[in-house]
Amino acid sequence: MPVITNIEDLRVLAEKRVPRMFYDYADSGSWTEGTYRANESDFHKIKLRQRVAVNMENRTTATQMVGIDTHMPVCIAPVGLTGMQHANGEMHAAMAAKKFGIPFTLSTMSICSIEDIAAHTQAPFWFQLYMMRDRDAMVRMIDRCKAANVSALVLTLDLQVIGQRHKDLKNGLTAPPRPTIANIINLMTKPRWCLGMAGTKRHTFGNLVGHVKDVTNMKSLASWTNEQFDPTLDWEDVAWVKKQWGGKLILKGIMDVEDAQLAVASGADAIVVSNHGGRQLDGAPSSIEALPSIVAAVGSQIEVWMDGGIRSGQDVLKAWALGAKGVMIGRAMVYGLGAMGEAGVTKALQIIHKELDVTMAFCGHTNIQNVDTNILLPGTFPTA
Ligand code: GLV
Repeated sequence: MPVITNIEDLRVLAEKRVPRMFYDYADSGSWTEGTYRANESDFHKIKLRQRVAVNMENRTTATQMVGIDTHMPVCIAPVGLTGMQHANGEMHAAMAAKKFGIPFTLSTMSICSIEDIAAHTQAPFWFQLYMMRDRDAMVRMIDRCKAANVSALVLTLDLQVIGQRHKDLKNGLTAPPRPTIANIINLMTKPRWCLGMAGTKRHTFGNLVGHVKDVTNMKSLASWTNEQFDPTLDWEDVAWVKKQWGGKLILKGIMDVEDAQLAVASGADAIVVSNHGGRQLDGAPSSIEALPSIVAAVGSQIEVWMDGGIRSGQDVLKAWALGAKGVMIGRAMVYGLGAMGEAGVTKALQIIHKELDVTMAFCGHTNIQNVDTNILLPGTFPTA
């Protein structure tokens, strides 16, 4: 067993252990993948100011996201098909998040259902919702969230039509995989994964199957999206969701100042500056580049978070310094899960927390609440 010291180690192990189509699903962006790459590489351009001879004892990274306590300004992002990275994947990731003291978000496109997570963790979690054409199904899903003690709803606004990811088309992505020769040959090299899957009945979209009507292909994410997601989604629909739900609402997929202002007007509790991990509009700026102008425009009126490209605790600290009150991690969690199940997600969280905590100390701070743009070297970071 290799010694795991960073997120890249978990990625390498996940690549070995997870069937090709599911590894590729997570580790890809749309079209040229330019935005996907920029999400990560733009973080590397930002330089930190090293400070010395400052007492660095008794450090804390604790904060709140929409009023909910969290051990660090990090929560688990909603990731579709997480239960295909590892058997019962969403349950394992939710448990790791609960034990670590950070929020977990379940995707609409998850394999384990809302009820599975509620029963398994017995802790409040967040649910990510897509606007579907079938409004009765939406109402039922929101009601299921209430019954499951979901403590915030994350409405994703940037995936009413799906961006093309070449690998998914070439791999013929479905959940579960079709028994083609290529898939069978690949699965023969993934014995742990197969054994895990043989031990669970959760092999397809647990929140949707049996709950949403008129779907002809229940296995493919692209078909679900084309048939079910409502391309007419607008701000009136956001208001409708807010009214149906009545609880904390987070709007995800905001990349533009004008949209951020409309989000504030909608009465949402937080927005996530996000280009969907570079999976939707290729050619959009990285999330970290888009962040400062959105913080400058609406940061005093609403909590601004971001996601996209976070692969270390240093990235978390840089996003915080630029005004993000929290970040979502998707791939870092998925790599941990694919590598080692719940223990791998815990490992990913430990790695990120340690990098965050120690970097904060190197920058001369003991309490994350006191960290701001002053820790960044002028001229190296994006500005409004
Ligand atoms: C869905 O959320 C996706 O990005 O595949």
